Amino acid sequence: MDTILNLINQTADYLRSQMEGPAPELAIILGTGLGPLGEQITDRKVIKYESIPNFPVSTVEGHSGQLIFGKLGGKNVVAMSGRFHYYEGYDMKQVTFPVRVFRALGIQKLIVSNAAGGMNKEFKVGDVMIITDHINLFPENPLRGKNFNELGPRFPAMTEPYDLRFIELADKIADEKQLRVMHGVYVGTTGPTFETPAEYEYFRVIGGDAVGMSTVPEVIVAVHGGMKVFGLSVITDLGGKDIKDVPSHEEVQAAAVRAQPTVVALVSELVARM
Ligand code: HPA
Repeated sequence: MDTILNLINQTADYLRSQMEGPAPELAIILGTGLGPLGEQITDRKVIKYESIPNFPVSTVEGHSGQLIFGKLGGKNVVAMSGRFHYYEGYDMKQVTFPVRVFRALGIQKLIVSNAAGGMNKEFKVGDVMIITDHINLFPENPLRGKNFNELGPRFPAMTEPYDLRFIELADKIADEKQLRVMHGVYVGTTGPTFETPAEYEYFRVIGGDAVGMSTVPEVIVAVHGGMKVFGLSVITDLGGKDIKDVPSHEEVQAAAVRAQPTVVALVSELVARM
């Protein structure tokens, strides 16, 4: 029987055989509506998920499902256009499999992005939030089950899930470029329902600034593997007790696209300097 280690190595070997340029040093997971960031990648080699052994296939509208190898900010990168969400029915091992493969390719830095609902009362739709920490409200931890020491320790520390140096650097870039950038704690939950007013309020009270349906599993696995992570959320809707905003998937995508110039300016410079 194939162990997870065999599957990871098989997929990494396949990708190595397909890569045309030098190995990437950084991976980017493009969240909902953030695909245009991937369009900034030059010298591209695109590989569809369907053709990658052991990769699950992405199903959500607005996610095209491919890996983009190429250059961004002068660095060799690989971007995931389309991620695997727990709400789609994938299990945690499938959701986080690409991150394991990135680590097996020797990648030590990960940028994650997502669309999220804002609970922080200072936030506006279209804001970009640097993720400073997260709260895992998924019903399952991706590290549950047998631990493979080759992949990371049994009990990994989570004291600095988002690298403080990357956050400092992003703040400096935002300052230089006069970009409005917020900070906050991301609450990861299963979805696919958006939150009730009481749930948004609850997530705010427990310390959350934004809520979404992704990111936390991938970041846990990245930290387990010793990767350094930078995360950002695009605030696509606002939720809380007195907010009557009704988010829809289309609205979320449209708001994410509006934040695109800020995301592109911030991330491409960050990649160059991180
Ligand atoms: N809740 C959960 N996930 C989301 C939201 C939200 O309000 N907006 C975008 N993704």
